Amino acid sequence: MSTNILKGKRGIIFGALNEQSIAWKVAERAHEEGATFVLTNAPIAMRMGEINKLAENTGSEIIPADATSIEDIENLISKSVEILGGKIDFILHSIGMSINVRKGRHYTDQKYDFTQKGLDVSALSFHKVMQTAMKQDAMNDWGSILALTYIAAQRTFPDYNDMADNKSYLESIARSFGYHYGVAKKVRVNTISQSPTMTTAGSGVKGFNEFINYSDQMSPLGNADALACADYCIAMFSDLTRYVTMQNLFHDGGFSNTGVTQSVIDKFSD
Ligand SMILES: NC(=O)c1ccc[n+]([C@@H]2O[C@H](COP(=O)([O-])OP(=O)(O)OC[C@H]3O[C@@H](n4cnc5c(N)ncnc54)[C@H](O)[C@@H]3O)[C@@H](O)[C@H]2O)c1
Repeated sequence: MSTNILKGKRGIIFGALNEQSIAWKVAERAHEEGATFVLTNAPIAMRMGEINKLAENTGSEIIPADATSIEDIENLISKSVEILGGKIDFILHSIGMSINVRKGRHYTDQKYDFTQKGLDVSALSFHKVMQTAMKQDAMNDWGSILALTYIAAQRTFPDYNDMADNKSYLESIARSFGYHYGVAKKVRVNTISQSPTMTTAGSGVKGFNEFINYSDQMSPLGNADALACADYCIAMFSDLTRYVTMQNLFHDGGFSNTGVTQSVIDKFSD
């Protein structure tokens, strides 16, 4: 259901790879809610071409950018302001990647080139995007910037590997930059900590199917899906959440505050 809650708002959405992507759902919902935005992804992800369909359906332009490249981000932000006809109201950072995970390297046997690349893509890129936006004075006052994260930043999930460290750094950047962007421009910066979700990035994690079931049974409301996550992002981009900043917001059906559930206990009965 649309209430035009983002009418007149301009945004940049990183990370829509295919229909499963959380960013894809956010783009569809933002369009329904009256926003205009630019879609972006790594040049290599464009080769699959699926993003063109999303651009067509949402009347958006695509600007390829490797989120680790300052040059690409500068070009992305300045062109977005030009294309959209004014400063930006919201940015979604929906990017994550670990080469150690992809290559099946154990947490205790990382290849540090892989670790550094993953950290750059998954966390430092968030700082690069905000620093560039701030230098170009590209955000409107009271704008809203979001990144997606996972609870492995606070608690250990062994197969999440070095992505756990990347997410901790990402969440810390949200707090630190949120302070400075708040003081400078009243821009709010938050992370949304999402339930495990069946996407390309999610299913890269070892034992993901078992894990998604475990998480579902450990959450009083069950796992939140990608569309529900998109709804939360829309709320956070809207003017109804103007004073929420520097927070890590759990969107996980209650998982983060649950010690155990009856359905999990039942599995241990003799
Ligand atoms: N799927 C889950 O279970 C889950 C749970 C919590 C948080 N998240 C987070 O949600 C976000 C989105 O992931 P998703 O699950 O929708 O998967 P996804 O694979 O659809 O999205 C990840 C995106 O990152 C992009 N990307 C990778 N390297 C990049 C680079 N150098 N420059 C620009 N973009 C790059 C990919 O092209 C892809 O579009 C990630 O931050 C992920 O960690 C996912």
